[in-house]
Amino acid sequence: MIEEPVTDFRPLAPTRPADDPDVARTDRLDEALASLLPALEQFNRFEGPDRSALRSEWAPLLDEPLPQEGVGAEAVLELLRNVVIPRGLRVGHPGFTSWVTTAPTTTATAGHLAQAVASPQRWWLQPGNHLDSMAVAWLIELLGFPASYVGTFTSGGSTANLVGLGGARQHAAERLGIDPALEGLAALPEPRVYASPETHHVVTRAMGVLGLGRANIRLVGLDRERRADLRQLESLIREDLDAGRTPVAIVGNAGDVNTGIVDPLPQMAAIAREHDIWFHVDGAYGGWGVLDERVEAAYGDRGLYDSFAVDPHKWLAAPVGTGLAVCRDGDLLARAFTIEPGHYDRERNLEHPSTDDAPAPWSALGSGTPDWGVDFSTPARGIAVWAVLKEIGADGMRERVRRHNDFARMVAARARQEPELELLSEPQLSICCFRYRPAGWDDAERLDTLNEQIIDELRREGRSLPSSTRVDGAFAIRACYINPRNDREHVELLVEDVLAVGRRLTNG
Ligand SMILES: Cc1ncc(COP(=O)(O)O)c(C=O)c1O
Repeated sequence: MIEEPVTDFRPLAPTRPADDPDVARTDRLDEALASLLPALEQFNRFEGPDRSALRSEWAPLLDEPLPQEGVGAEAVLELLRNVVIPRGLRVGHPGFTSWVTTAPTTTATAGHLAQAVASPQRWWLQPGNHLDSMAVAWLIELLGFPASYVGTFTSGGSTANLVGLGGARQHAAERLGIDPALEGLAALPEPRVYASPETHHVVTRAMGVLGLGRANIRLVGLDRERRADLRQLESLIREDLDAGRTPVAIVGNAGDVNTGIVDPLPQMAAIAREHDIWFHVDGAYGGWGVLDERVEAAYGDRGLYDSFAVDPHKWLAAPVGTGLAVCRDGDLLARAFTIEPGHYDRERNLEHPSTDDAPAPWSALGSGTPDWGVDFSTPARGIAVWAVLKEIGADGMRERVRRHNDFARMVAARARQEPELELLSEPQLSICCFRYRPAGWDDAERLDTLNEQIIDELRREGRSLPSSTRVDGAFAIRACYINPRNDREHVELLVEDVLAVGRRLTNG
């Protein structure tokens, strides 16, 4: 028996229609969804205690061996309604400032559902294909890239960075007369990628996947503002060139995940240009920062980026599973990710790409190409992005980014004012790192432990939900604002809650 039914609902007819050839229900989607909607709405109110982590409570309701005989749709819906949804991850909670991903907004969710049902393959001519390409073009414009740039939605920032670095690999090898996607990398002498230690670890993973080797990252130290040090960057490149190695890419961070710092991108772009090295920018989290005119200059001319990763499933609050790779050179990208046509429809359809009405369904591919990324079958992720941009417009997104950057500054201002708080990183975007530091507490380890305890306690209370990181070795409370549900009240509450818990733990 499943406990606590959340709502009344009209169950699906217990048996499938006699003429249904498959055991899975293919009818009554409306009623199935209607029976889940009150639970979803209730979840989004984030009321009551968070029970997502109480495995001993929910696992016994779910654990079972592989069923040989199915229980039918209604029993599945009941589990979703009464066990899975009410105990979901509350990353959309207005006090949740832990991650760079969040829960989707209303139209993003609706777009996602429309995509899952009505647009299960992105490439074929249909409105979903059209909207996906339109959403790519809108984002290219919104983020300030020249209209000649191409883009493709990916499963996230990890794959968007992989795609960008795939372009870099192609560029570096082609200069030496090698097609690495076709021939492999054996003839490429000692590839090197340059990036600061704040670079997200998916970049080194991408190097591994691309055969460049994770060990071949050249870590550029940080300057006083915690940005990639330009002198070190230049000297590492010269050293490698002198030694006959192959510089493949310079990677700049447009908002690192720890503190939200933007590397000196215009200067890095100039160094890349001088040596004809590919310039890739990871803006998975902070690429959206260009929409705040107070910090936009830090990003420099986007027309100098060779590739760029940005995540609609972060600040834009699209459903998780939505990244975007942008590239200056679509032809080169297609050489890097060429997929040979198979002997089925795609081969035939490639001969008939169509932007006009096709003579019949499935007789033409729509816009975009799987040669710009690593997916073949893929949903039209852009429907959700289109839905959000159409709903809130560029101005809505600009307003969100500014508001969130202001929130981080509000926390920083309080951390400067309050004698028991210490600001650890000045926000450039929407991340503020600080810690509780009572007077006379100078021992680094003791301070780390205290702040770890504060985070644990805040999570138990479930009202203010920051994450942690380390800034120059110190354990920091990290608040990151990208969640559209974050509000001013919770910004204030975070500071109050940290002070209250800190005082309680130190009897201060
Ligand atoms: C700066 C940065 N790059 C890349 C990634 C990886 O993105 P995803 O988790 O969408 O694969 C993240 C995610 O935290 C990030 O913050």
